[in-house]
Formats: sequence, C-alpha cells, structure tokens
Amino acid sequence: MEALILTGSPRQNGNTEILAKTLSEELQRHEATVKQFRLPDLDIHPCIGCGNCEKEGICIINDDMQMLYTHIVEADIILLASPIYFYGLTAQTKAFVDRCQALWSRKYILKKRISQKANRKGYLVSVAATKGERVFEGAILCARYGLDAMDAPYDGGLFYPGVDGKGEIRKHPGFPDKLEQLARQIVKVP
Ligand SMILES: Cc1cc2nc3c(=O)[nH]c(=O)nc-3n(C[C@H](O)[C@H](O)[C@H](O)COP(=O)(O)O)c2cc1C
Repeated sequence: MEALILTGSPRQNGNTEILAKTLSEELQRHEATVKQFRLPDLDIHPCIGCGNCEKEGICIINDDMQMLYTHIVEADIILLASPIYFYGLTAQTKAFVDRCQALWSRKYILKKRISQKANRKGYLVSVAATKGERVFEGAILCARYGLDAMDAPYDGGLFYPGVDGKGEIRKHPGFPDKLEQLARQIVKVP
C-alpha cells in the first residue's frame, strides 16, 4: 500500500508535522510505503483558471505540481495535513487543492479515470488553536471535495482543537493513540 502524505504548515517541525511524522511511522510499521512532501517547500503556483484542463485534462503550469500529479495517481492513500488558518486550510494547502482542478476536469468533464488503483481513500489531519465547534468545518469541506477530484474519497481524519504553541500537540490527550487508531483504519488492521 502506497501512502502519499502532504503537509501544509509553513512552520517547520510544528504540530502538523509532528502529527504527519507519527502517522507516517505508524503506517510504515504496518508495511505501508510512505512518500511525504512539505507543500510550503514546493513551487506550487495558484490555479489561474485558464480552463486548459477542461480540454486536455492536464495543467499547463510547469511547476512542482506536475511531480505531485504523478504521486497522486500512484497512491492508494492520500493524506492531507494542515493546521487551521482563518477557518480553512493554509494557503499552501489550498493552492495545492485548487491545482487539483486539472484532475476534477479529467474526471468530471472528460470522464477519464484518475488512477488505475481501486479503493483509494483520502484523509485529513488538522490542528487549531481554538476549540470552537465549527473550527474544522471549512477545512474538512475543502479537503473532501479536493480528495474527490483526486479520486480518493474522504474517509475521515483526526482533528485536534486547542493546540497552538509549537509542539503542544504532544500534550494533547488524543496523541498518539488516536493516530495509531487512524493508521490501523487506513491499513485495515483490526
Ligand atoms: C495565519 C494564522 C491563522 C490562524 N487561524 C486560526 C483560526 O482561524 N482558528 C484557530 O483555531 N487557529 C488558528 N491559527 C492557529 C494555528 O492553527 C495553530 O497555531 C496550529 O497549532 C499551528 O499548527 P502548526 O504548528 O502545524 O503550524 C492560525 C495561525 C496562523 C499563523
């Protein structure tokens, strides 16, 4: 099983990256192969709405997204990890999701298959400083529809409210047990 983990926090070694690292280790412990990228380190131009993908199913912007398209197609599992920035995903994660419009066009306009792999699934893990009931809603909606375009239907995730300072996630009661549970759900180990 190949898992693609994309982290979207610009803060290095922060809460999101600790979550992603722990999850990656858990997945590998269950024999999954993990490929992980920091979206803020990549050159991902925002979508320019040119509409080219509606005709060809490919994006004409030549940047690191071209490499990620290949990884998206090859993955069994796509896991997005982003902190909440103003009730949504970080700008770097959102730019990535918007560029998946090329896959949306391929799937829904050109009616082409995105991947040869079956039963692909997508997940989101996130942290937020506040504990508002709706703090993760925007990010979940965006991830759900982005993952649908990638043809990796959203299958859940983990959400940690009340986590702000760098590394504070380690003190959260749901860390790391919930991550171990999610890894088992992903690799389908009871
Ligand atoms: C620009 C910016 C916007 C933020 N917006 C929110 C927000 O809307 N709601 C919230 O609860 N936390 C918000 N936060 C706090 C982060 O989600 C929180 O600090 C998180 O733990 C950062 O994760 P990281 O260490 O992975 O970067 C914001 C932080 C920044 C820098």
